[in-house]
Amino acid sequence: MSDAKKLFEEMIIFSGNANPELAAKIAKEMKIPLGRCQVGRFPDGEIKVKIEQNVRGRDVFVVQSTCPPVNENLMELLVIIDALNRASAGRITVVIPYYGYARQDRKDQPRVPITAKLVADMLTVAGADRMLTMDLHSGQVQGFFNVPVDHLTAAPIFLDYFREKKMEGVVVVSPDVGGVKRARNFAQEMGANVAVVAKRRLDDDSTEVDDVIGEIKTKNVIIIDDQISGGGTVVRAARALKEIDKKIKVYAVATHAVFAGQAIERLSEAPIEEVIITDTIPTPRADELDKLTILSVAGELADAIGRIHNNQSVATLFRGALF
Ligand code: R5P
Repeated sequence: MSDAKKLFEEMIIFSGNANPELAAKIAKEMKIPLGRCQVGRFPDGEIKVKIEQNVRGRDVFVVQSTCPPVNENLMELLVIIDALNRASAGRITVVIPYYGYARQDRKDQPRVPITAKLVADMLTVAGADRMLTMDLHSGQVQGFFNVPVDHLTAAPIFLDYFREKKMEGVVVVSPDVGGVKRARNFAQEMGANVAVVAKRRLDDDSTEVDDVIGEIKTKNVIIIDDQISGGGTVVRAARALKEIDKKIKVYAVATHAVFAGQAIERLSEAPIEEVIITDTIPTPRADELDKLTILSVAGELADAIGRIHNNQSVATLFRGALF
Protein backbone atom coordinates (compact mmCIF):
# COMPACT_ATOMS: atom_id res chain seq x y z
CA MET A 1 0.00 0.00 0.00
CA SER A 2 1.42 3.40 -0.98
CA ASP A 3 2.07 6.06 1.64
CA ALA A 4 -0.62 8.26 0.12
CA LYS A 5 -3.13 5.40 0.38
CA LYS A 6 -2.13 4.74 3.99
CA LEU A 7 -2.46 8.44 4.75
CA PHE A 8 -6.12 8.46 3.73
CA GLU A 9 -6.92 4.95 4.87
CA GLU A 10 -9.52 6.10 7.30
CA MET A 11 -12.27 8.47 6.25
CA ILE A 12 -14.18 10.59 8.73
CA ILE A 13 -17.31 12.67 8.10
CA PHE A 14 -18.00 15.64 10.35
CA SER A 15 -21.03 17.91 10.43
CA GLY A 16 -21.69 21.46 11.53
CA ASN A 17 -25.10 22.63 12.66
CA ALA A 18 -26.45 23.61 9.21
CA ASN A 19 -27.97 20.27 8.26
CA PRO A 20 -27.05 17.52 10.73
CA GLU A 21 -29.95 15.35 9.47
CA LEU A 22 -28.44 15.20 5.99
CA ALA A 23 -24.96 14.50 7.40
CA ALA A 24 -26.40 11.65 9.50
CA LYS A 25 -28.14 10.19 6.43
CA ILE A 26 -24.91 10.35 4.43
CA ALA A 27 -23.00 8.58 7.22
CA LYS A 28 -25.77 5.96 7.44
CA GLU A 29 -25.60 5.36 3.68
CA MET A 30 -21.85 4.86 4.05
CA LYS A 31 -22.33 2.64 7.11
CA ILE A 32 -19.92 4.69 9.22
CA PRO A 33 -20.58 6.76 12.34
CA LEU A 34 -20.35 10.54 12.10
CA GLY A 35 -17.10 11.99 13.41
CA ARG A 36 -17.23 13.26 16.96
CA CYS A 37 -17.00 17.02 17.37
CA GLN A 38 -18.66 19.76 19.34
CA VAL A 39 -19.75 22.86 17.50
CA GLY A 40 -21.16 25.36 19.97
CA ARG A 41 -20.96 28.98 21.02
CA PHE A 42 -19.16 31.00 23.67
CA PRO A 43 -21.51 33.19 25.73
CA ASP A 44 -20.74 36.16 23.45
CA GLY A 45 -21.76 34.22 20.33
CA GLU A 46 -18.30 33.32 19.06
CA ILE A 47 -18.10 29.85 17.56
CA LYS A 48 -16.43 27.18 19.64
CA VAL A 49 -15.30 23.91 18.05
CA LYS A 50 -13.69 20.85 19.57
CA ILE A 51 -12.80 17.86 17.42
CA GLU A 52 -13.17 14.92 19.76
CA GLN A 53 -11.19 12.27 17.94
CA ASN A 54 -7.82 11.89 16.29
CA VAL A 55 -7.81 13.09 12.67
CA ARG A 56 -4.06 13.08 12.05
CA GLY A 57 -3.40 12.08 8.44
CA ARG A 58 -7.06 11.16 7.83
CA ASP A 59 -9.27 11.89 4.83
CA VAL A 60 -11.82 14.21 6.36
CA PHE A 61 -15.14 15.46 4.96
CA VAL A 62 -17.14 18.29 6.53
CA VAL A 63 -20.83 18.48 5.61
CA GLN A 64 -22.17 22.01 5.94
CA SER A 65 -24.55 23.87 3.63
CA THR A 66 -24.13 27.63 3.81
CA CYS A 67 -27.88 28.08 4.12
CA PRO A 68 -29.72 30.40 6.53
CA PRO A 69 -28.51 31.48 9.00
CA VAL A 70 -25.90 31.92 6.27
CA ASN A 71 -23.22 33.80 8.17
CA GLU A 72 -23.41 31.53 11.21
CA ASN A 73 -23.17 28.41 9.07
CA LEU A 74 -20.34 29.79 6.95
CA MET A 75 -18.33 30.87 9.97
CA GLU A 76 -18.92 27.49 11.65
CA LEU A 77 -17.54 25.79 8.57
CA LEU A 78 -14.44 28.00 8.57
CA VAL A 79 -13.79 27.36 12.24
CA ILE A 80 -14.26 23.59 11.83
CA ILE A 81 -11.80 23.57 8.91
CA ASP A 82 -9.30 25.52 11.00
CA ALA A 83 -9.62 23.06 13.87
CA LEU A 84 -9.14 20.08 11.53
CA ASN A 85 -6.18 21.71 9.84
CA ARG A 86 -4.48 22.41 13.13
CA ALA A 87 -5.18 18.82 14.19
CA SER A 88 -3.17 17.66 11.12
CA ALA A 89 -6.00 16.16 9.07
CA GLY A 90 -4.49 14.60 5.93
CA ARG A 91 -7.01 16.13 3.53
CA ILE A 92 -10.08 18.26 4.15
CA THR A 93 -12.99 18.16 1.71
CA VAL A 94 -15.81 20.59 2.35
CA VAL A 95 -19.16 19.10 1.37
CA ILE A 96 -21.39 22.11 0.73
CA PRO A 97 -24.61 20.75 -0.79
CA TYR A 98 -25.99 24.31 -0.99
CA TYR A 99 -23.34 26.96 -1.62
CA GLY A 100 -24.73 30.27 -0.34
CA TYR A 101 -23.46 33.70 -1.42
CA ALA A 102 -23.30 32.26 -4.95
CA ARG A 103 -25.73 34.67 -6.58
CA GLN A 104 -23.24 37.55 -6.40
CA ASP A 105 -20.93 35.95 -8.93
CA ARG A 106 -20.05 38.98 -11.10
CA LYS A 107 -20.02 42.75 -11.03
CA ASP A 108 -23.36 43.44 -12.68
CA GLN A 109 -23.31 47.05 -11.48
CA PRO A 110 -20.59 49.37 -10.18
CA ARG A 111 -19.23 48.98 -6.67
CA VAL A 112 -20.67 45.59 -5.78
CA PRO A 113 -18.77 42.58 -4.42
CA ILE A 114 -18.30 39.12 -5.89
CA THR A 115 -19.16 37.12 -2.81
CA ALA A 116 -19.03 33.74 -4.55
CA LYS A 117 -15.29 34.33 -5.02
CA LEU A 118 -14.80 35.83 -1.57
CA VAL A 119 -16.32 32.76 0.12
CA ALA A 120 -14.23 30.43 -2.07
CA ASP A 121 -11.09 32.29 -0.95
CA MET A 122 -12.15 32.15 2.71
CA LEU A 123 -12.66 28.38 2.54
CA THR A 124 -9.28 27.71 0.97
CA VAL A 125 -7.46 30.11 3.27
CA ALA A 126 -9.03 28.27 6.22
CA GLY A 127 -7.54 25.05 4.85
CA ALA A 128 -10.08 23.30 2.58
CA ASP A 129 -8.29 21.03 0.12
CA ARG A 130 -11.26 20.35 -2.11
CA MET A 131 -14.97 20.96 -2.34
CA LEU A 132 -17.99 18.82 -3.17
CA THR A 133 -21.18 20.68 -3.99
CA MET A 134 -24.47 20.42 -5.83
CA ASP A 135 -26.29 22.57 -8.38
CA LEU A 136 -24.32 25.77 -7.98
CA HIS A 137 -26.19 28.91 -8.94
CA SER A 138 -23.86 29.11 -11.92
CA GLY A 139 -21.34 26.48 -12.94
CA GLN A 140 -18.60 29.07 -13.39
CA VAL A 141 -18.34 29.44 -9.61
CA GLN A 142 -16.21 26.27 -9.71
CA GLY A 143 -13.49 28.41 -11.26
CA PHE A 144 -13.41 30.68 -8.22
CA PHE A 145 -11.76 27.85 -6.30
CA ASN A 146 -8.06 27.12 -6.68
CA VAL A 147 -8.66 23.62 -5.33
CA PRO A 148 -10.58 20.80 -7.08
CA VAL A 149 -14.38 21.11 -7.09
CA ASP A 150 -16.76 18.23 -7.74
CA HIS A 151 -20.06 19.69 -8.88
CA LEU A 152 -22.96 17.27 -8.62
CA THR A 153 -26.54 17.74 -9.73
CA ALA A 154 -29.81 16.55 -8.25
CA ALA A 155 -31.18 16.15 -11.79
CA PRO A 156 -30.89 12.33 -11.81
CA ILE A 157 -32.93 12.20 -8.58
CA PHE A 158 -35.67 14.37 -10.11
CA LEU A 159 -35.55 12.38 -13.34
CA ASP A 160 -36.10 9.11 -11.47
CA TYR A 161 -39.00 10.68 -9.61
CA PHE A 162 -40.76 11.89 -12.75
CA ARG A 163 -40.05 8.70 -14.69
CA GLU A 164 -41.91 6.79 -11.98
CA LYS A 165 -44.89 9.10 -12.37
CA LYS A 166 -45.06 8.09 -16.04
CA MET A 167 -46.49 11.47 -17.05
CA GLU A 168 -47.26 12.02 -20.70
CA GLY A 169 -46.84 15.14 -22.83
CA VAL A 170 -44.43 16.96 -20.54
CA VAL A 171 -42.88 20.34 -21.30
CA VAL A 172 -39.93 21.44 -19.16
CA VAL A 173 -39.86 25.17 -18.46
CA SER A 174 -37.12 27.45 -17.22
CA PRO A 175 -38.66 30.23 -15.11
CA ASP A 176 -36.04 32.69 -16.37
CA VAL A 177 -33.60 33.09 -19.21
CA GLY A 178 -30.62 32.25 -16.98
CA GLY A 179 -31.87 28.71 -16.38
CA VAL A 180 -32.47 27.68 -20.00
CA LYS A 181 -29.51 25.32 -20.17
CA ARG A 182 -30.63 23.52 -17.02
CA ALA A 183 -34.17 23.14 -18.38
CA ARG A 184 -32.96 22.07 -21.80
CA ASN A 185 -30.74 19.33 -20.36
CA PHE A 186 -33.54 18.10 -18.12
CA ALA A 187 -36.00 18.12 -21.02
CA GLN A 188 -33.55 16.17 -23.15
CA GLU A 189 -33.31 13.45 -20.49
CA MET A 190 -37.11 13.40 -20.11
CA GLY A 191 -37.59 13.25 -23.88
CA ALA A 192 -39.67 16.42 -23.53
CA ASN A 193 -39.85 19.82 -25.16
CA VAL A 194 -38.47 22.92 -23.50
CA ALA A 195 -39.85 26.44 -23.05
CA VAL A 196 -38.83 29.53 -21.11
CA VAL A 197 -40.64 32.27 -19.23
CA ALA A 198 -38.96 35.57 -19.99
CA LYS A 199 -39.69 38.89 -18.35
CA ARG A 200 -40.41 41.78 -20.73
CA ARG A 201 -40.41 45.41 -19.67
CA LEU A 202 -43.47 47.26 -20.94
CA ASP A 203 -42.52 50.83 -20.01
CA ASP A 204 -40.09 52.93 -18.03
CA ASP A 205 -42.15 52.53 -14.86
CA SER A 206 -40.78 48.99 -14.73
CA THR A 207 -44.08 47.33 -15.54
CA GLU A 208 -43.19 43.78 -16.53
CA VAL A 209 -45.05 40.97 -18.24
CA ASP A 210 -44.04 37.33 -18.51
CA ASP A 211 -43.71 35.99 -22.03
CA VAL A 212 -43.71 32.24 -22.53
CA ILE A 213 -41.30 31.37 -25.31
CA GLY A 214 -41.88 27.91 -26.76
CA GLU A 215 -44.92 25.77 -27.38
CA ILE A 216 -47.02 24.69 -24.40
CA LYS A 217 -49.55 22.37 -26.03
CA THR A 218 -49.55 19.96 -23.12
CA LYS A 219 -51.17 18.94 -19.84
CA ASN A 220 -48.05 18.72 -17.68
CA VAL A 221 -45.38 21.31 -17.18
CA ILE A 222 -42.28 20.95 -15.03
CA ILE A 223 -40.70 24.25 -14.00
CA ILE A 224 -37.10 23.63 -12.99
CA ASP A 225 -34.78 25.99 -11.09
CA ASP A 226 -31.69 25.72 -8.93
CA GLN A 227 -33.39 27.22 -5.91
CA ILE A 228 -36.63 28.62 -4.56
CA SER A 229 -35.87 31.53 -2.30
CA GLY A 230 -38.80 33.92 -1.85
CA GLY A 231 -40.82 31.91 -4.39
CA GLY A 232 -41.49 34.90 -6.66
CA THR A 233 -39.76 33.48 -9.74
CA VAL A 234 -41.48 30.11 -9.80
CA VAL A 235 -44.91 31.50 -8.87
CA ARG A 236 -44.78 34.11 -11.66
CA ALA A 237 -43.81 31.42 -14.13
CA ALA A 238 -46.65 29.14 -12.96
CA ARG A 239 -49.19 31.95 -13.37
CA ALA A 240 -47.92 32.79 -16.86
CA LEU A 241 -48.32 29.15 -17.89
CA LYS A 242 -51.82 28.89 -16.42
CA GLU A 243 -52.83 31.92 -18.44
CA ILE A 244 -52.12 29.91 -21.57
CA ASP A 245 -54.35 27.04 -20.48
CA LYS A 246 -56.05 26.63 -17.09
CA LYS A 247 -55.99 22.84 -17.45
CA ILE A 248 -52.19 22.66 -17.38
CA LYS A 249 -50.77 20.94 -14.31
CA VAL A 250 -47.68 22.74 -13.07
CA TYR A 251 -44.92 20.95 -11.13
CA ALA A 252 -42.17 23.08 -9.57
CA VAL A 253 -38.75 21.50 -9.10
CA ALA A 254 -35.76 23.04 -7.33
CA THR A 255 -32.69 21.54 -5.71
CA HIS A 256 -32.37 24.07 -2.89
CA ALA A 257 -35.42 25.05 -0.83
CA VAL A 258 -34.23 28.25 0.78
CA PHE A 259 -37.87 29.26 1.38
CA ALA A 260 -37.14 32.77 2.64
CA GLY A 261 -39.76 35.31 3.70
CA GLN A 262 -43.26 34.55 2.42
CA ALA A 263 -42.23 31.61 0.20
CA ILE A 264 -44.52 29.07 1.91
CA GLU A 265 -47.56 31.37 1.64
CA ARG A 266 -46.77 32.19 -2.00
CA LEU A 267 -46.32 28.55 -2.97
CA SER A 268 -49.51 27.51 -1.12
CA GLU A 269 -51.60 30.02 -3.05
CA ALA A 270 -49.88 29.46 -6.40
CA PRO A 271 -51.43 27.36 -9.18
CA ILE A 272 -48.83 24.66 -8.62
CA GLU A 273 -49.76 21.00 -8.25
CA GLU A 274 -46.63 19.86 -6.46
CA VAL A 275 -43.37 21.40 -5.30
CA ILE A 276 -40.47 18.94 -5.46
CA ILE A 277 -37.26 19.84 -3.65
CA THR A 278 -34.31 18.09 -2.01
CA ASP A 279 -32.83 18.04 1.48
CA THR A 280 -29.64 20.02 0.70
CA ILE A 281 -31.10 22.52 3.17
CA PRO A 282 -33.38 21.74 6.14
CA THR A 283 -36.70 23.02 4.77
CA PRO A 284 -38.19 25.69 7.00
CA ARG A 285 -41.88 25.11 7.81
CA ALA A 286 -42.05 22.08 5.50
CA ASP A 287 -45.14 20.72 7.28
CA GLU A 288 -47.12 23.84 6.31
CA LEU A 289 -47.02 23.04 2.61
CA ASP A 290 -49.17 20.01 1.71
CA LYS A 291 -47.99 19.88 -1.88
CA LEU A 292 -44.32 19.54 -0.89
CA THR A 293 -42.23 16.48 -1.77
CA ILE A 294 -38.70 16.26 -0.41
CA LEU A 295 -36.26 13.92 -2.12
CA SER A 296 -32.97 13.07 -0.44
CA VAL A 297 -29.58 13.74 -1.97
CA ALA A 298 -27.84 11.71 0.76
CA GLY A 299 -27.29 8.65 -1.47
CA GLU A 300 -25.70 10.67 -4.24
CA LEU A 301 -23.45 12.60 -1.85
CA ALA A 302 -22.45 9.39 -0.04
CA ASP A 303 -21.58 7.82 -3.36
CA ALA A 304 -19.50 10.86 -4.35
CA ILE A 305 -17.68 10.96 -1.02
CA GLY A 306 -16.82 7.27 -1.33
CA ARG A 307 -15.51 7.81 -4.85
CA ILE A 308 -13.45 10.86 -3.88
CA HIS A 309 -11.94 8.91 -1.01
CA ASN A 310 -11.06 6.02 -3.32
CA ASN A 311 -9.82 8.29 -6.13
CA GLN A 312 -12.56 7.07 -8.46
CA SER A 313 -14.41 9.09 -11.07
CA VAL A 314 -17.61 10.82 -9.96
CA ALA A 315 -18.73 11.39 -13.56
CA THR A 316 -20.96 8.31 -13.54
CA LEU A 317 -23.15 9.98 -10.90
CA PHE A 318 -24.44 12.45 -13.48
CA ARG A 319 -26.08 9.68 -15.50
CA GLY A 320 -26.02 11.98 -18.51
CA ALA A 321 -27.88 14.79 -16.76
CA LEU A 322 -25.30 17.56 -16.68
CA PHE A 323 -26.72 20.90 -15.65
C1 R5P B 1 -32.16 33.13 -10.09
O1 R5P B 1 -31.35 33.36 -10.97
C2 R5P B 1 -32.27 31.78 -9.46
O2 R5P B 1 -31.99 30.75 -10.37
C3 R5P B 1 -33.64 31.56 -8.88
O3 R5P B 1 -34.60 31.68 -9.92
C4 R5P B 1 -33.94 32.58 -7.82
O4 R5P B 1 -32.90 32.64 -6.88
C5 R5P B 1 -35.24 32.25 -7.12
O5 R5P B 1 -35.49 33.25 -6.20
P1 R5P B 1 -36.96 33.58 -5.72
O6 R5P B 1 -37.59 32.29 -5.29
O7 R5P B 1 -36.76 34.55 -4.59
O8 R5P B 1 -37.70 34.20 -6.87
